[in-house]
Formats: sequence, structure tokens, C-alpha cells
Amino acid sequence: MKMTFGVFLHEQFATLPKPASYGISLEGKTVIITGANVGLGFEAAKHLARMSPGRLILACRDPKKAQIAVQDIKTATGCNSVEAWQLDISSNESVKAFADRFAKEGGGKVDILIENAGVNVPKMERTPDAWEKNIGTNHIGTAHFAFRMLPFLLQAPQPRLVILASDVHYFTYKPELMNRPDLLHSLNADKPTNKFEGFANIQRYDISKTMNVLFGHILSQHVPSSSPLTVSTVNPGFCVSALLRDQGFMLQIFNRLVGRSTEVGSRTLVHAAVAPNVQGKTGVYLSSCAVTEPSDFVISKQGQETEEKLWAETVDILGKVDPEVPRIISTYLSH
Ligand SMILES: NC(=O)c1ccc[n+]([C@@H]2O[C@H](COP(=O)([O-])OP(=O)(O)OC[C@H]3O[C@@H](n4cnc5c(N)ncnc54)[C@H](OP(=O)(O)O)[C@@H]3O)[C@@H](O)[C@H]2O)c1
Repeated sequence: MKMTFGVFLHEQFATLPKPASYGISLEGKTVIITGANVGLGFEAAKHLARMSPGRLILACRDPKKAQIAVQDIKTATGCNSVEAWQLDISSNESVKAFADRFAKEGGGKVDILIENAGVNVPKMERTPDAWEKNIGTNHIGTAHFAFRMLPFLLQAPQPRLVILASDVHYFTYKPELMNRPDLLHSLNADKPTNKFEGFANIQRYDISKTMNVLFGHILSQHVPSSSPLTVSTVNPGFCVSALLRDQGFMLQIFNRLVGRSTEVGSRTLVHAAVAPNVQGKTGVYLSSCAVTEPSDFVISKQGQETEEKLWAETVDILGKVDPEVPRIISTYLSH
């Protein structure tokens, strides 16, 4: 599908179902949301807290901000099963430490994992593992955490993995950027000139969100068909949050004019995580709480080839820094 400005605006002002309308109880269920101290993750956590989860873990990089969010959610919802756990998704060591801690403290099932943490960085910045920040956080870290939490998800009777994507993936208008031989390393190695630095990094954000769509789809293809795991990628819409904090004035004004509130945008995360009509629809891209065709590039032959290449590169890169990743893939996924 192509995204036109008209379709984009129409979606921005669409009425989205309120989470309470699903009449869902999360009693006895374990829910983890990354980047839940603010923005879409925080609002989604509030909605889910109202569904009485057995355990709601806010996986956040800053423990102080996370504790404040826990208190705010408890006060707003009366839910006392909210916890804050430290996670910097852009750090291999932090992802490993989170998963190891989860296993050490009893492990058990994870019913819902919402991979929401993300950045939109206009200048060249690096993660602790020296990846360009948009790619390292939004794709590599997200993929790493998905792999490490897979054994726990697969213990739940009807687990869901939700990965935050974006409708900006429709604007990855230069497929040749995606089709480079060593995609992840080449994006990392690029040294844009001053003139194009901002431009190149905006593209890296868009590319990272395209990677979320591709990765969510191909991961779902590697999950054995006998497994009840539902993987989806979600577009929350253009929302007024802290995500654009480092972006230019004009984009921020446009954001204020047409942006959804984070409460409205967060309904899309909750829909993907609990709505009965999503169960079993694995590998789909959701927008405005409905299964939607992703971009023409994603569904093209070239897009499918990029998806395979992205999978191979990601598995190779993560396998070199975390031996648990290949073990989990060979134990739980089909080839
Ligand atoms: N807002 C939009 O218009 C929009 C549109 C499409 C998709 N999305 C996607 O939605 C997701 C949430 O965005 P948002 O709008 O809610 O942005 P936000 O308000 O900036 O929130 C992002 C969250 O991610 C956390 N985070 C960033 N880097 C992290 C890391 N390395 N480890 C752990 N947590 C990290 C942030 O923590 P700190 O508070 O510590 O920075 C924050 O909690 C992102 O994946 C974004 O790409 C947003």
C-alpha cells in the first residue's frame, strides 16, 4: 500500500476503540512493556494496569523515572502489581542482564511483551555497543530483547509479542538504501557530510521502523506453526510525545497540529496486546487498530529479500555478542 497525505490525515483523526471496551481481565498474566516511563508506553501501561494484571513490569532505562511512573500508575489505576525493572535496550549487556534476572527470579511465562522503547535521533550518536543509535536501539536492541524473552513468551498459553513500528516505514522511498550487501554495518559506517547529516539520520529512523515491520514479520515466520505466539507490528499514529524532542521546529508544530495524544495512540498498543480479534493473526502490521497492508516496498520481492538478509545479519551480529541467541533460535524456532 502507498501512504498518501489524505490517508495519513484520515487515520490521524480516526476514532480508536477504548481498551475498556474489550472487557478483558489480565488476572494471573505477566505483562512487560519497554520504555514505559513516559509517552505511549506509559499510557499503554495505565490501560493494562486497569485490567488487573498479575504482574506489570515497566522495563525502563532510568530507574528513577521508572519508579515515578510506577507510583503514578498505581495512583491512577489502583493496581498494585506494577514493578520497575532496569533495561537499556540499546545495550547488549543490559538486555542479557534483564533476561538473566527474569530467569533467576523464577522465570515463568510472559503473556504479553510490548517492545515500545525507541528513539528518533537526528544527529549521529552511538549506543553503548557503538551502533548508530536509531538502528542500534530501534532494531538491534529490540530484536535482541525479543530473542531473549522468547523462551518465556512461549510458556504462556496465548502469548503476544507487539513491536512498535511506524507509518514512516511507507516513506523509506529509496529501496536501494535497504538493499545494500551488508545493510546493518553499512548504515553504521556511513559518515554523512554536515549538509546531509540530519537527512541521513531521519532516514535511519525511517529505516529502523521499516526494519521493525520486516523483523516482526520474519520472526513470526520462524515461530513453529504449532505455537500460539502472535507477533504483530504496530503503528501508533503520529503522536504528541517526547520522541521528537531533538527534531526541528517545523516538525514539532506539525506534530502539535495533527498529532494524536499519547493516550489515544496507546490504544493501538493495547489493541495489539489484548484485543480478541488479533489472536492468531501473526506477522501482521496493525494501524488504527486494524490489520493493514504495509508499504509496497515491504511486500515487494525486493522487500522479502531484504527481510531475509536482515534476519541473517541480525542473527549473526547478535550471535557474536550473546551465545544465548543462537541457542534460543535453534531450540525454539524453525529454520
Ligand atoms: N510518537 C509518535 O508519533 C510515534 C509514531 C510512530 C511510532 N512511534 C514509536 O513508538 C515508540 C514510543 O515512542 P513515544 O512516542 O512514546 O516516545 P517517547 O515519549 O520518547 O518515549 C520513548 C520511551 O522509550 C524509552 N527509551 C528510549 N531509549 C531507550 C533505551 N535505550 N532503553 C530503554 N528505553 C528506552 C524512553 O526512555 P527515556 O524516558 O529514559 O528516554 C521512553 O520511555 C517508539 O518505538 C517510537 O518509534 C512513535
